Amino acid sequence: MNPFHHGVAITGQEFCPRPELVSTLRGHIDSNQNCVIRGVRRIGKTSAVLETLRTHKKAKYIYVNCWGKLDVDSLASAIYEAFLIHQQRQGLSIEKIIRGFAHLRPKVALDPYSGEPTFTVDTRADTAQDPRSIERVLDTLAHEGEKCPLVVVLDEFQALLTLPQAEALMATMRGAIQLQSHVTYFYLGSTRNLMDQIFNSPDRPFYKSAASVNVEPIERSVYIPYIKDKFATGKRGASSAALAAIFDAACDITGDVQQLCSEIWNFTNQGETIKTETVPHGLERIHRAEHESNSRIIELLTPGQVRVLVGLARVGGTSPTSKEFLKASGVAQPSSVTRAINRLSDRGLIYNSPEGYRFFSPFFRTWLLTQEL
Ligand SMILES: Nc1ncnc2c1ncn2[C@@H]1O[C@H](COP(=O)(O)OP(=O)(O)OP(=O)(O)O)[C@@H](O)[C@H]1O
Ligand SMILES: [Mg+2]
Repeated sequence: MNPFHHGVAITGQEFCPRPELVSTLRGHIDSNQNCVIRGVRRIGKTSAVLETLRTHKKAKYIYVNCWGKLDVDSLASAIYEAFLIHQQRQGLSIEKIIRGFAHLRPKVALDPYSGEPTFTVDTRADTAQDPRSIERVLDTLAHEGEKCPLVVVLDEFQALLTLPQAEALMATMRGAIQLQSHVTYFYLGSTRNLMDQIFNSPDRPFYKSAASVNVEPIERSVYIPYIKDKFATGKRGASSAALAAIFDAACDITGDVQQLCSEIWNFTNQGETIKTETVPHGLERIHRAEHESNSRIIELLTPGQVRVLVGLARVGGTSPTSKEFLKASGVAQPSSVTRAINRLSDRGLIYNSPEGYRFFSPFFRTWLLTQEL
């Protein structure tokens, strides 16, 4: 069986140890410190937080994914639904949950994969799309926090910026949260500029309201042996140079390393040693699998934006308005590059880092390099 997993949060035995990060997060839970947890996509934010909570002796948690919520009502429902799962984990029977929270009109279903109960609630009558109604939802969490140390994980928190009345909603949330001394809030997000908008803009309600934790790549000295062990479970060896090539291609992004390893696993056999020459074949397979979705992304861009994107892929993003960059990308004006870069950042294809503009997905970049654009 392929031992590599990507695209899902990893906890327990599969979790490659990150003692420093876990200890920092644990410290924030113990001192009741709200914190914002940032890091690029697929770096391991959700996994690290869930693993910290799983191994914490006392804290209970509520996990809410803010992604895809369309309005106040769907956010309120998601929080209540997570709250009911927490009640169930605390040992409350389904009958008691249904009776005790009848005002939420809960319905129960069994998750087809885990077999665990999941809940849906109907809060429309309660919230009526009023941003202030979120206060009542958060009050429920505050009461719970008085009974046991509680961490509320709001994953993909930046997605709330797209909700109607986002500003009023955030102001209400901030107001309620700052009065809660028994609940710790973890806000997770990967879109750097949006998370900065929320937590680093003086005119925003959440300005400097939380400690900051950055999730960086796992050190190679730790992650390479972990990956090597996984290959060994299928009697595959891997040369040091091949492993370095895998990490380079994946830009050390935790999930991307596993995605590439997973592909390599699929076309190699027991007894084989993975060599440097094996890695490009793995990349090709990823490019083939992602070709259609990548092409659709390109179709939505203007020719100028495509030129800048290809330029970034070829020469890197340290100085995109330099003469060298303009020449390589075939764009006449630095101002056109700046405009294109802003649009590409808004679309989530690139982001600004201390090392310049970078691609959100290293394999999207390497795919671009194989295209005649
Ligand atoms: N500690 C870890 N040990 C092993 N693999 C990990 C670890 N953390 C993350 N991964 C790998 O990275 C992938 C993405 O992890 P996770 O979903 O936690 O990242 P994320 O930063 O929350 O991503 P996103 O920005 O997409 O929400 C996992 O599926 C797994 O392949
Ligand atoms: Mg995540």
